[in-house]
This record gives sequence, structure tokens and C-alpha cells, in this order.
Amino acid sequence: MRIDVVTIFPDYLAALDLSLVGKARRTGLLDLRVHDLRDWTTDRHRTVDDTPFGGGAGMVMRPDVWGRALDDLMGEPPVGGPDEVPAGAHLVVPTPSGEVFTQRHAERLAGADHLVVACGRYEGIDARVVEHYRAAGHPVSELSIGDYVLNGGEVAALVMVEAVGRLLPGVVGNPHSLVEESHGAAGLLEYPVYTKPPAWAGHDVPDVLLSGHHGRVERWRRDQALERTARRRPDMLAALEPAVLDRRDREV
Ligand code: ADE
Repeated sequence: MRIDVVTIFPDYLAALDLSLVGKARRTGLLDLRVHDLRDWTTDRHRTVDDTPFGGGAGMVMRPDVWGRALDDLMGEPPVGGPDEVPAGAHLVVPTPSGEVFTQRHAERLAGADHLVVACGRYEGIDARVVEHYRAAGHPVSELSIGDYVLNGGEVAALVMVEAVGRLLPGVVGNPHSLVEESHGAAGLLEYPVYTKPPAWAGHDVPDVLLSGHHGRVERWRRDQALERTARRRPDMLAALEPAVLDRRDREV
């Protein structure tokens, strides 16, 4: 997969050299390129923003600068009807006014060949930019990482690239880690985990985990996941398909 990130602060993305995503870049599983938006400016001051039409506080990022950058990076949009396989990139715009980014978005984006992530700053990017690439036939996702406001899209881009990158085949060593985790297919938060030593600071690992009884361990983990989800994320429990709950689940 190729991911291009466009930002006025390329150094923010340096963390993507580390850990599993960094390794995926070095081994060629992920072709990740970070670009400075100012490379597409044409004036001496390398200006990327201007005052908002209609007045108000702050500055808005100019569509002409973004347009030059994205025309260079997005590739040709798909031709033909909506059934046509998209040939160009999927544009991702982190913004607090987007849909809330979830594991489902990460899974969908991980299926794309090419993502371009456009990091806005100030009051955001002129709205015509998203409109233009959507009208041209590119998939466009405006996504928020949560109900709070950051100073720009860079931290959200880090979040999204990591969430997507770890789903690419070969990036996470043990694919089973992806199956059991919170927000995974089960629709539940993950159960609590323990390692050695079995007794620490007066706290013992639950006996069942030391029992060697696989069936009892599985049941205990499922009960813990259900209880935790009910307590912390009742919205997730309510959204579960009744068919995924077994008789023992209903007793928890
Ligand atoms: N830019 C500023 N705040 C953001 C948020 N919560 N999510 C995504 N992008 C943002």
C-alpha cells in the first residue's frame, strides 16, 4: 500500500519511522511518503492560508495550493460508472467535523491501494477541495479521531496511519493478535491480560488463568469482556447482534 501524507509540519510524522509501521516501511510492505505542503506554494513567503470569506476568526487553507499538491499525488480518478474499480487515491481528511474514525474505517482504508492524507491547520481547508476531488470520482473520507479539537490533522493522521498500517498483511507478526483485540470482530472490549509473576504487590493473577483448563479460561475471558463492555461501553453492547451472544453470555 502507498500512503502520502501532506502537511506543513512534516516533522510531526517522524514517529512513523518507529515500531511496526517503521519496519513495514523499511521492508517495503508500506510505501509511506510525507510531503511539505509549502513545496506547492508559488510566492516568496510560501503562503498556504488566507482570511475566511464571510469573516470570523482564524485563517483558512487555500484551495489552489492544496489543488496543486493533490493533483500531483492523487493519480487519475476512476473512469466509468460507480462500479468501476477506483484507479486513483482515496483522499483522507482528518477534521473534528468528520465522521468518528473507528476500526471499521481502518479496515476499509486498509483495503485501498493508495491513500492521500491531507492535514489541515488553522480553521481547516477551503471546502471546495473535498468537493472537487469527490466530484472527480475519488473516494473521500473526512474523519475525526474524537470529540475534541486538536491544532491540526497531523496527530490524527498518525493515529489513522498506525491503525491502518497494522492491518496490512505481514505488519503484525501474529495475525491472531488482530482477531481478539478490542473493537475487533467480536464487538466487545478485550478481556484483562496478565503475565509473570503470578503474585505481585499483593495482587494475584486470577486462579482460572493458572488452571490450564482451556475451556474455563475461554469462558472467563468472554465473561470479563462482556462485563467490561457493559460497564465502560454500553453503546457497544447495545449495538451487538443478539445472534452473537450465546446462552451463557446472557447470564453475565
Ligand atoms: N483536527 C483537529 N481536531 C481533529 C480531530 N479531533 N480529529 C481529526 N482531525 C482533527
